[in-house]
Amino acid sequence: MKRTSYCGELRKADVGKQHVLTGWVQSRRDHGGCIFIDLRDRTGIVQIVLDPQIDAEAHRVGNAIRSEFVLEASGAVRDRMPGTVNTNLPTGEVELAVTKLAILNTAKTPPFLIEDDEDLDRNDDLRMTYRYLDMRRPRVAKALQMRHKAAMVVRNYFDRHGFLEVETPMLTKSTPEGARDFLVPSRLNPGSFYAMPQSPQLFKQMLMIAGMDKYFQIVKCFRDEDLRADRQPEFTQIDVEMSFIERDDVLTVVEGLMEELFALIDVKIETPFRRMPYAEAVGNYGVDKPDLRFGMELVDVGDLAAQSTFRVFKTVTESGGLVKGIRVPGGAKLSRSEIDALTKFVGNYGAKGLAWMRVTDDGIDSPIAKFFESDTLTALRDRMGGESGDLLMFVADTTNVTHAALGALRVHLAHKLGLIQPDTYEFVWVVDFPLVERNEDENRWDAMHHPFTSPHPEDIPLLDTDPGKVRSNAYDLAVNGQEIWGGSVRIHDAAVQEKVFRMLQLSDDDIQLRFGFFLDALKYGTPPHGGIACGFDRLVALLAGETSIREVIPFPKTSKGVCLVTGGPSTVDDKQLAEVFIKVDLPEEDE
Ligand code: AMO
Ligand code: AMP
Repeated sequence: MKRTSYCGELRKADVGKQHVLTGWVQSRRDHGGCIFIDLRDRTGIVQIVLDPQIDAEAHRVGNAIRSEFVLEASGAVRDRMPGTVNTNLPTGEVELAVTKLAILNTAKTPPFLIEDDEDLDRNDDLRMTYRYLDMRRPRVAKALQMRHKAAMVVRNYFDRHGFLEVETPMLTKSTPEGARDFLVPSRLNPGSFYAMPQSPQLFKQMLMIAGMDKYFQIVKCFRDEDLRADRQPEFTQIDVEMSFIERDDVLTVVEGLMEELFALIDVKIETPFRRMPYAEAVGNYGVDKPDLRFGMELVDVGDLAAQSTFRVFKTVTESGGLVKGIRVPGGAKLSRSEIDALTKFVGNYGAKGLAWMRVTDDGIDSPIAKFFESDTLTALRDRMGGESGDLLMFVADTTNVTHAALGALRVHLAHKLGLIQPDTYEFVWVVDFPLVERNEDENRWDAMHHPFTSPHPEDIPLLDTDPGKVRSNAYDLAVNGQEIWGGSVRIHDAAVQEKVFRMLQLSDDDIQLRFGFFLDALKYGTPPHGGIACGFDRLVALLAGETSIREVIPFPKTSKGVCLVTGGPSTVDDKQLAEVFIKVDLPEEDE
């Protein structure tokens, strides 16, 4: 390589030195005499000058240069002329006076301005179709460099702590993590399919049985589920498993790693992180991944609601539902139409309405105030901590709907009203999850984490009598309201594992077919073990200051699971299908 420096790295100390730069043309300005070019590579931008007094040939070549041409430029670094220093650029004090210029390649006019780093979400599809051009943008290039740095910290950290990085297969059998599998037909085994791993869960547990003791892997996982801003069909985990440990050993390892990762952005975080039982998280924040950067906790007002004559509140409390409220600081200024919009918002979470009260200097202003005795109204305001200028908002519904609606409303309002301080990070371990949750649609119990999660030892007898009450030894780490890590201590006793499978209403045949190999493995001297996995894309997005994980994934997919760069998924020809014994049978298109 002839290059002597990256573009973004030239500084005052280079003045007087000869340098060779390579890069892409961000912009070209012809000032009559001289041509000024901003030359870009992944490190940043530097100005190069084509001055006919210095090199007439370079200046002549410069006339043909357009955006995104690839150049090699040699010359001496010099101070910029007084008054032309660009304080926004790290290289802004210097420029390269070119004595030799080569156009290494030309470029078509790109479909968008690559220098446009602002408001990147516009024309998202266009960006992702030309992602290789999008990545030339400093903001995107920086995010990918952060991803690399984070991966290096992870590998160094685990290596130092005695973990082995072990690869696990991509073409295997289904591991249940609650999503659909991506399937791959097997040509050599007609009619059979591999499943892409939803996680390496069973393999990492078998590595513990194998005596690997401490394992980690930075690994792709595949889940065919409905996509949201923080979900991709293929995503990356930092996957971890440890033998002969208890819950807190795992949490401590993660805390140490998070300290080193946040040091990348000069954020010093306090460990150990606080721990919060699941019941408290859901009770006070409505969700199992509470955003603790602001208050507005959910407050139970069921007893006071029951004393009102408001029909909705009475029916809900009498039928065992839940009435809770949040205090919106300064929310009394919200207009009726804004409140109507919030009512619609909670409707997305199943709430049938949103009752509200403005707290004013003269008392409570609310359409439902008339249903309360004045003492009860005062007690309600005091319970909520309402002060003049606040808005109190209430949902009455089933426990799940009330929590989901208010939990989401709380976050929505905090953003809307600017109650969240930027650049703060609130970490919380959510612990003591229930082992199972009721699947009302299918009238059965589902594993809340996954079926290999250990119940609390003292709750094991409840497996037969009251499964919904069994606590598990699972834990999640939430940061600013987002689930970043999740894991559990595992079942290491084959008999308990079988019992849990049965409780999940798997038939003996099903158990044998899907997990027989694993139940068998558990019987060959399984050490007590546990582990955890991190949503690496979410973590990197946090570190890079991006709100969407798509920004930190080199080639992400759309919400319909399409890779816009390549156009995949696509149809394949009949010959390819025949080789794997597949016939495509699409439903008739609706006219
Ligand atoms: P879990 O399913 O909680 O646990 O996944 C671990 C973490 O992975 C991230 N994540 C995702 N990120 C992007 N797109 C997705 N579709 C997606 N799904 C999950 C989340 C989540 O916290 N095998 C267990 C871990 C264990 O028990 O050790 C597992 O996969 O940040
Ligand atoms: P209504 O009696 O239906 O006109 O409702 C009066 C007020 O109570 C409106 O502000 C509704 O949004 C609100 N409301 C209705 N149903 C509920 C509910 N389940 N929980 C909380 N507020 C509700």
